[in-house]
Amino acid sequence: MNGKSPLLPEQNGAKSAYVLAGVTVLFLLLAAALYNGLWGQPPVKPQIPPVDPVFLETTPWRQTYADLVKAKQDLSDYDCYACHDRNKPPPLRFDDQQRIVVPSEHSNIVMGHGSHDRNNLCFNCHNENNLETLQIRNGSVVKFDNIPPLCGSCHGPTYRDWEAGAHGRTSGFWNHQLGDSVRLSCANCHNPHSPRIPTRQPAPGPHSLHEDAPPHQVKSETTP
Ligand code: HEC
Ligand code: HEC
Ligand code: HEC
Ligand code: HEC
Repeated sequence: MNGKSPLLPEQNGAKSAYVLAGVTVLFLLLAAALYNGLWGQPPVKPQIPPVDPVFLETTPWRQTYADLVKAKQDLSDYDCYACHDRNKPPPLRFDDQQRIVVPSEHSNIVMGHGSHDRNNLCFNCHNENNLETLQIRNGSVVKFDNIPPLCGSCHGPTYRDWEAGAHGRTSGFWNHQLGDSVRLSCANCHNPHSPRIPTRQPAPGPHSLHEDAPPHQVKSETTP
């Protein structure tokens, strides 16, 4: 025993009640002060512009031959023998650097397949014996409306990812009782002649938590 008598349970309860009441009043005052902006309101931040609707577009950016046929659009680009001779495959032309020269009649085609233009030869894909078909490395021939096996003959791992649904977009239905799932063709996303996906400007980031940090600026090649 240290001489002080311990508090009785009733005294203890009364003390807690005072403390609790005091704390409640303090918090109410604080709430009122914050509500009325006693220390000023935080500055209003400029609104972040909504994402460009172009990014929300779900129709593929590129129409394949199969899409053109379905939509009954102009197929004259695919009518190879309107200009070419059936019995004479067109000769490939090269400049002095051994780079392929695309003739002006095909000026819509910009070749750039591979980091060192490694797959720019027309007859790596087109069939010289029948221009209206494509040829696969193993010698088999596919029609223009069946492009994935052609790409897959050189891009095996990507092709297998695509078949399994891990590369490229699968849309339609997961539940096959409701409808089919739809897998886009390689050529809906990649231009076979220049398959690299162009980079694009990222959407704006969120506001910084730190007042003094300037909002993140995206530098692009298009804005000076
Ligand atoms: C509007 C006419 C026209 C159409 C349609 C056309 N071509 Fe050509 N193409 C030409 C001309 C002209 C040349 C250059 C002269 C030549 O080589 O016969 C050429 C050249 C080519 C070459 C050689 C390219 C090079 O680097 O020299 C290939 C390969 C070719 N065409 C494939 C095709 C295929 C495949 C189709 C159909 C999907 C097609 N062309 C449709 C007019 C056409
Ligand atoms: C005859 C073989 C061959 C065929 C067929 C082929 N590719 Fe390629 N592809 C290549 C080579 C080689 C590269 C370059 C790889 C490298 O540089 O590392 C390449 C690169 C690419 C790239 C990377 C981007 C780039 O330009 O470097 C993409 C994407 C691509 N191909 C897509 C396709 C698609 C889509 C098809 C079908 C329309 C296709 N490829 C058909 C051989 C082929
Ligand atoms: C990597 C494979 C590949 C190579 C290499 C390639 N093509 Fe193609 N080309 C295709 C595919 C696949 C299509 C069908 C495209 C589609 O359905 O969107 C096509 C379409 C075409 C067409 C018809 C549509 C159009 O864009 O005018 C022509 C003409 C053509 N190619 C000519 C050429 C010529 C000429 C070369 C060489 C300078 C060449 N291609 C090289 C795969 C290739
Ligand atoms: C829905 C669109 C879409 C479809 C369909 C698609 N791709 Fe791609 N592909 C992409 C995108 C996006 C990239 C990534 C580009 C990047 O990372 O810069 C890519 C990258 C690639 C590359 C580069 C190497 C790699 O794997 O990163 C190859 C090769 C390629 N695709 C081949 C194919 C082939 C072959 C098919 C068809 C069997 C196909 N793609 C179908 C969108 C697509």
